[in-house]
Amino acid sequence: MDHFAIREGRMFAEDVPMAHIAEKVGTPVYVYSRATLERHARVFRDALSALPSIHIAFAIKANPNLAVLRVLAREGFGGDIVSIGEMKRALAAGMKAADIVFSGVGKTRGDLRDALDAGVGQFNIELEEEGVALAEIAKSMGKTATAVLRVNPDVDAGTHAKISTGKSENKFGVPIDQAPDMFGRLAALDGLAMRGLALHIGSQIFDLDPIERAYVKVGALAMQLRGAGFVIDRVDLGGGLGVPYERGKVPPSPAIYGEMVARVTKGWDVTLMFEPGRVIAGNAGVLLTRVIWVKPGIVRPYVIVDAAMNDLARPAMYDAWHDFEAVLPSGERVVANIAGPVCESGDTFAMNREIDAVKSGDLAVFRTAGAYGATMASTYNSRALVPEVMVDGDKFAIVAERVVPEKLIAAEQVPDFLKD
Ligand code: LLP
Repeated sequence: MDHFAIREGRMFAEDVPMAHIAEKVGTPVYVYSRATLERHARVFRDALSALPSIHIAFAIKANPNLAVLRVLAREGFGGDIVSIGEMKRALAAGMKAADIVFSGVGKTRGDLRDALDAGVGQFNIELEEEGVALAEIAKSMGKTATAVLRVNPDVDAGTHAKISTGKSENKFGVPIDQAPDMFGRLAALDGLAMRGLALHIGSQIFDLDPIERAYVKVGALAMQLRGAGFVIDRVDLGGGLGVPYERGKVPPSPAIYGEMVARVTKGWDVTLMFEPGRVIAGNAGVLLTRVIWVKPGIVRPYVIVDAAMNDLARPAMYDAWHDFEAVLPSGERVVANIAGPVCESGDTFAMNREIDAVKSGDLAVFRTAGAYGATMASTYNSRALVPEVMVDGDKFAIVAERVVPEKLIAAEQVPDFLKD
């Protein structure tokens, strides 16, 4: 459930008319709803309430905006980070270093040092050499790094190839059959406290079966390691729960996921860690855009909007679907293509789609844009970096300003050797 709805013929974000935001901030602009974020955080937490011990770390890559992170920090969430930049954001938003989990396949030695220095709570090790480096660095700093080993369970999550991470050919995790010996070697190192395992098999998952199979495999490995005398007190189950991008296509609810987790992990006697991203932020945001032209196409009309692939990359990158809705719907529907102004044919949000009829100057939104939206934006075609707004009841605030070309140009220089 979200708080973007048509009331009295026009779309609101909570109690703020969308048109009001467009007028004050301009378009394109991402609009987040605080109440929706809070609701999603609570629904997710409640779904796991039957579990004896949990830790939830929001996958910051999904939406690293400081205001968004602040809302989630207030809900008691930690952060799952994949860079020192994300760590800085998590800390700036008020998340505790101890509640931060450092994931990622390419952490540099410098990253490991910075994270240790800040007191990051857990390192998810992706390969043996990384664990050895972490141990050395921690020891040299007089510290002990708390770590888990990320395993690749070789399970197909059944999602888009570009967001699948748990198959043997993917770059993530260590092969599960090599994990027991590797865990033993890492656990023997000074400077490293190996405490458990981690996995994450993919994103936008609609079928719980592969997740369950992967959890069963990792649970068996955890019990095997404990049986061999290792301390295993945490298992990080990753993120990946899907969201409804398209009306009528409904993913498993957090409650159903929670029931599965409770059943599968019964008796593990560990703290279960979660790294949800999309399921928390996805439907808490929309991308508000204005129609520039409706261009009669050869086959279908093209609705050309002022948002483009640089603002919302998902359709161009993954053929992703985002519902498109008029802010002032007339009730009339048409079949059209929707595209942005960027000079690439791939800058297309939808083809042959039945949508609300819109005309030049109308406002519309792309829904479910709160996760992997603004965070993946670029300035391609020298377009401004898209701004972000958060709504709270009848108030709203700009939470990331539009970075205009003048600012981007100011960060560049023509070198002396080109100055005549
Ligand atoms: N944990 C790890 C280790 C991950 O790699 C990811 C996502 C998550 C948690 C959060 O997954 P979520 O709950 O959000 O599905 N840009 C793509 C998604 C990339 C996801 C990468 N990893 C998209 O727009 O669909």
